[in-house]
Amino acid sequence: MSTPVLETENLVKVYGRGPAQFHALKGLTFGIHRGESVAIVGKSGSGKSTLMHLLALLDEPTSGVVALDGRPVSKLKPKVVSALRNETFGFVFQQFFLNPHQTVLENVTLPLKIAGVPRAERDRRGMGALEQLEMADKAKNRATDLSGGQKQRACIARALINNPDVVFADEPTGNLDSATSETVEDILLNLQREHGITLVVVTHDEDLAGKCQRRLIMQDGQIVDEHTGVLPAGAGRQRRAAPHGASRPRRRILPFGRGARR
Ligand SMILES: Nc1ncnc2c1ncn2[C@@H]1O[C@H](COP(=O)(O)OP(=O)(O)O)[C@@H](O)[C@H]1O
Ligand SMILES: [Mg+2]
Repeated sequence: MSTPVLETENLVKVYGRGPAQFHALKGLTFGIHRGESVAIVGKSGSGKSTLMHLLALLDEPTSGVVALDGRPVSKLKPKVVSALRNETFGFVFQQFFLNPHQTVLENVTLPLKIAGVPRAERDRRGMGALEQLEMADKAKNRATDLSGGQKQRACIARALINNPDVVFADEPTGNLDSATSETVEDILLNLQREHGITLVVVTHDEDLAGKCQRRLIMQDGQIVDEHTGVLPAGAGRQRRAAPHGASRPRRRILPFGRGARR
């Protein structure tokens, strides 16, 4: 089998010191393969976000290894890690983290600005990403002028702007109503299924978890179980039916820039 895109070995995260010490991750060893969709599920406080932050190189483990494409990340210089994170990963968070003082387009193109891409090129690619998410007409809006679902679509456009290999999503549907959640789930899973993007999603949402190929079940800082296989629709929590039996539009999201992946 190919080298996993992400691998951990005996990953430990301890917060605080002395009597206030808290062992958030207690030695996790697993791999995520390229093009896979993996849900990290478990109760609040079980360590899901901590694990995602370590995998996404947003934080460092207390001990243990995170390897990206077989390379232990601890052996890389901080500048290289930042560049790798910006080039390789896209992020979607429950809280959106959109800058309210900037337009939707400025928010979406932020990763390109960080990467030093010139303005005209940034805007061109940003408009392309927004078009893919049917948000082009909102490009000049302030990020605060959007509905929850539109905000999350803007975040997904931002996550995709650098053609990431891996998209990390932490409770991406946590602030959305069920109909909007379903649209966002379909967009994320479509990226994985049709464009080979590796999807790592932290979620309480059983429906979203069920749509992923693998579920890692966390409890008290450990992976206590693992389920594989996409679950049949509706196996998770029941959703409200669409009004008047209206069917959802099918979305096709095309890869940006680069040609076919892998
Ligand atoms: N910066 C921190 N300092 C101290 N404890 C933390 C910190 N971040 C998370 N924790 C604790 O670690 C545990 C796991 O947190 P987290 O990974 O956010 O869980 P989850 O995402 O599953 O809800 C929780 O008990 C939380 O209180
Ligand atoms: Mg969390």
